[in-house]
Amino acid sequence: MSDDKALIPSLRIACPTATIWDAAELASRDPGFDARNFGASALVRPHDVEGVAALVRFCAEHGLSLVAQGGRTGLAGGAATSAGQVICDLGGLNQIEEIDPFARVAIVQAGVTLGALQEAATVHGLDPGIDLAARGSATIGGMVSTNAGGIMAFRNGTMRHRVLGLEAVLPDGRVFSDLTRVLKTSAGYDLKHLFIGAEGTLGIVTRVAVRLDPVAGASATALVGVPDAASAQRIVRHFLGSTSPRLTAAEILWRNFARLMQRALNYAPGQLPLDAPCLLVLGLGADNLEAARGVLEDGLAAIWEEAGILDGLVASSDAQAAALWRLREETEQIERAHPMAPSFDVSVPGGALDAYVARIEAGLKALDASYAPYVYGHLADGNLHISINCDGPVSHERHQAIEDVLYDGLREAGGSFSAEHGVGLEKREAYERHADPVKRDLARAIKGLIDPANVMNAGKVVG
Ligand code: LAC
Ligand code: ZN
Repeated sequence: MSDDKALIPSLRIACPTATIWDAAELASRDPGFDARNFGASALVRPHDVEGVAALVRFCAEHGLSLVAQGGRTGLAGGAATSAGQVICDLGGLNQIEEIDPFARVAIVQAGVTLGALQEAATVHGLDPGIDLAARGSATIGGMVSTNAGGIMAFRNGTMRHRVLGLEAVLPDGRVFSDLTRVLKTSAGYDLKHLFIGAEGTLGIVTRVAVRLDPVAGASATALVGVPDAASAQRIVRHFLGSTSPRLTAAEILWRNFARLMQRALNYAPGQLPLDAPCLLVLGLGADNLEAARGVLEDGLAAIWEEAGILDGLVASSDAQAAALWRLREETEQIERAHPMAPSFDVSVPGGALDAYVARIEAGLKALDASYAPYVYGHLADGNLHISINCDGPVSHERHQAIEDVLYDGLREAGGSFSAEHGVGLEKREAYERHADPVKRDLARAIKGLIDPANVMNAGKVVG
């Protein structure tokens, strides 16, 4: 739109029932995790799929770039915007339309938060089978768009494996409607998967059929100190091998990260046993709390020597379990301690975790003797989060050198430079440098086919 002043009145005409904010209003609001989220010229919050389609058609007609936003707590800049762009805020599509407890499926609109879906499903003894620290803000649409993973991916898969069907508005305003509610469809190309992990570059996800699983009656939490990740993996294998109880979490914290969190959360020394080189947080579901705690205690005792366990504690109260989980989940404490800290999200094939961490620690030290990374993550699927303790701005060259240390060899080994946070803007260069070139070519061709005018989230993921 050539005349900026005409944008807001024109949007009001095109989207008469939507909430609309101009740039000034955006500037006065909390942009969420990324300060750039509210850099756009306008935000439009439609209330139904027709409203989203009307907005998309408007943007397509006027050559405007449209950026879909959910909880605005994404970690790769996928929702960042700049002047001239328009935000499609999915917060108005916030209905859980249906929960079918027998078919074990929920039909939800894109703006529903994970926490709201978890709560609604629990009433039926069910659960979406996916969980992550940002459950209060992350929306189902955003999680689909980044193919979110979280703490239960090792047993239930990532978002891709939880989606039975979806609806999305295409860049020309047509609605792609594939709200299948069954697990099995072998009916040609399964195109819904194109929208999962596309970060809004191919269309805007508006509605999702999510698979639900029965939820355990209660869950217990343990903190276990171990010498290394290999030992933690032996413990996980032990619990995965037992048939009836369910391991629901296996999170690993390297000591440097645990110490930072302990300080940031003001935990008294000795409040939790945090001295081991690696800490493992285990969650285990069973019919009742006593049974869950019993299984954790017995299991740890049985594997104690073989796994070389140094320390262990099964939380004896909800408060203790919560304190333990805060240690793992309040990762914004890293940004508080080091606002400039570059952070990364890699997948390392199982079995190679200790060697990987040793290699990157040495590689980072060689770049700068003061570098001591904070490493933590989802042990059972090999997804590690890494933040570097940089206290000043990091130059582009230095950032690339850090990436080279972290990413070199990962793809060849069967891992990934981006495990669960997406590519967005943050990993655009890494995508060009570390993703398979044939895969990139194909991705560009698909983008060109579905969104030739580059209406959807221009500049992200594929560029
Ligand atoms: C977590 C986010 C950073 O696992 O993915 O805490
Ligand atoms: Zn994570």
